[in-house]
Amino acid sequence: MLILGIETSCDETSASIVKDGNEILSNIILSQDVLHRQFGGVVPEIACRAHLESVISVINNAVVDAKAQLAEIDAIAVVNTPGLIGALLIGVTSAKTLCMALDIPLIAINHLHSHIYANNLEHGDIQYPTVSLVVSGGHTTLFLSESETKHIPLGGTIDDAAGEAFDKVSKILGLGYPGGPVIDKLARQGNRSAIAFPRSYLEKDSLDFSFSGLKTAVLYYYRGQDANVSQSKPLSNQEIADIAASFQEAVIDVLVDKTVQASHRYNVQGILVGGGVAANSRLRQRLKEKSEETGIPVYYPSARLCTDNAAMVAGLAYKKYLEGNSADLTLEAIP
Ligand code: KG4
Ligand code: ZN
Repeated sequence: MLILGIETSCDETSASIVKDGNEILSNIILSQDVLHRQFGGVVPEIACRAHLESVISVINNAVVDAKAQLAEIDAIAVVNTPGLIGALLIGVTSAKTLCMALDIPLIAINHLHSHIYANNLEHGDIQYPTVSLVVSGGHTTLFLSESETKHIPLGGTIDDAAGEAFDKVSKILGLGYPGGPVIDKLARQGNRSAIAFPRSYLEKDSLDFSFSGLKTAVLYYYRGQDANVSQSKPLSNQEIADIAASFQEAVIDVLVDKTVQASHRYNVQGILVGGGVAANSRLRQRLKEKSEETGIPVYYPSARLCTDNAAMVAGLAYKKYLEGNSADLTLEAIP
């Protein structure tokens, strides 16, 4: 069965064809990073307009790359939630139009669930239940996953998402956008114990997250107590690397501790990690160490499938389709 997946929830326009839920025949990802870089974050109106301009050619390329014809596609999957409303609408409208023209089923996909499914694309048979951590630019959510399609939220961020914290700290340090990959790289040259930035665990046993205090702590550390740029003394490259490493370690301590805590509480068979921040090399290393310590297997996707892509959408759609879970043409985008 061939499913065409479409992903336009944030700032990547992506289309992919996946066979039988696991064989990626094509996965076209058009990143809008260059358009948003000068603003230090995603500008919704710019994202929306860019999706509109490129979605048809991205879908076309996915079909050509898979050496397929539109007429051979069995169903179309689209992310309809959560995301930027204007951005989601472009994907949802494209998918509905194609489904109507080709007279094939439409499958609605939750963006966060698709990030978790990126693991199923690469790691074959995963035993459930799992604890699944989605860490991206817009979300930090822990789920109890009972199957590829059934995910019960356990906790989430009450303010900034983990990726958003990376992006904002990168902006403070003048390192560019997106911040995650730059900080990841720079942190390797820094001392992660140099600065004791705060770790926010919230109430005892809470599986929620908060990163905005940490971001503010970095701001004050970098610029001085009144956060006045003009009074900041120039820092050496080594000092900036130390800030990056210490900040990153504070984020990762909380992510790892809460994920491991949830995995013990729910007595799971594994831990799945997905979303852009799952590409972080220190997070992957720390989770791997925990896995060796606890004996609970930890899975994360290869870097290309961590960030937004439509292969994870088309893959998950196959499982939903087998469960008889398709949508109709009244499907709405839900931000
Ligand atoms: O999943 P994604 O592509 O888009 C959303 O759904 O938000 O995630 C993008 C986020 C950005 O905030 C980016 O800075 C972060 O993922 N990111 C990373 C790394 N690579 C991407 N964060 C930390 N370390 C990385 N290596
Ligand atoms: Zn995402």
